[in-house]
Amino acid sequence: MEENRSKEQGASRRSFLTTSGKMLAGAALASTVLAGKSEKAQAYAIDTGYKYALLDPQKVGQIAYENYAKRWCASSVIAGLVNELAAKVGGPWKTYPIDAMRWAHGGFAGWGALCGTLTGAGAVIGLIVPDTDIAEAMTNDLAFYYSSTELPSFTPPKNLIADIESMTIAGTPVCHISVGRFMKKEEVDFLSNERAERCARLAGNIAMEATNMLNEWKKNGKYTPKHKPLFNVLANGITSQNNCTDCHGDNVPNPGNYATITTAEGAECATKPAAGKH
Ligand code: HEC
Repeated sequence: MEENRSKEQGASRRSFLTTSGKMLAGAALASTVLAGKSEKAQAYAIDTGYKYALLDPQKVGQIAYENYAKRWCASSVIAGLVNELAAKVGGPWKTYPIDAMRWAHGGFAGWGALCGTLTGAGAVIGLIVPDTDIAEAMTNDLAFYYSSTELPSFTPPKNLIADIESMTIAGTPVCHISVGRFMKKEEVDFLSNERAERCARLAGNIAMEATNMLNEWKKNGKYTPKHKPLFNVLANGITSQNNCTDCHGDNVPNPGNYATITTAEGAECATKPAAGKH
């Protein structure tokens, strides 16, 4: 079982690399499209009045972890950052409505979409960082971290909900797949204490990683992206995660089928899926 799973993960990473190679034509198209739109889409400065001070990532992670049982994933990450900022910076942080995004738990009210830890971290990053492109670079890096790291590695001094053994690589920022991989490896159901403990620790990890990014930006006056912004759109030719085979199996559809329409056949091709049978 164990061995199969790591093979599976290896296989989807490999097929991702092959796919992105094949997608070069699509990437060229996407970058033209994006470049054409860049005037409208470029960053702009915002000032929300929410200031930042260097924080201790371990402390922020621990607060996020401790909050999970009452607030769940999104608001727990927010609580980690906001409680510390209320203490260190004060101002509007003191009245920040931490539970206003509690609905984001379970990948948007239990729909299993984007993991709530990322929604929570993104909400706070967007408030702090005045350049919208830098905020996007950070959230993009956070999604990469979440998807490609064996988590949860956050280990509390005292387990608050349960003891757990497993860590997993989600391969995606999607709640359903991420949590499903953990359930399979730990052999527990969704409503188990073990699954809750895992998501609590994950909240700790994501809160810590967001703090590391914000600290880097604060210390250096800039943030160096670890990954290319809009990487997935450019490399894959479609808004995407990199785990194509998880959902499409071996028959990953080719976004190039919908590429530049220059001929009558091409136009026809674009109105109905050219592959038609993936
Ligand atoms: C979380 C699941 C999931 C992942 C991961 C995923 N897809 Fe999809 N994708 C879908 C579903 C569902 C559809 C809709 C298919 C349909 O209705 O026939 C779709 C549709 C598409 C389409 C347009 C329809 C078609 O058949 O041509 C393309 C192109 C595509 N995916 C490419 C990709 C690529 C490339 C990747 C990886 C970079 C990827 N997908 C990852 C679930 C996924």
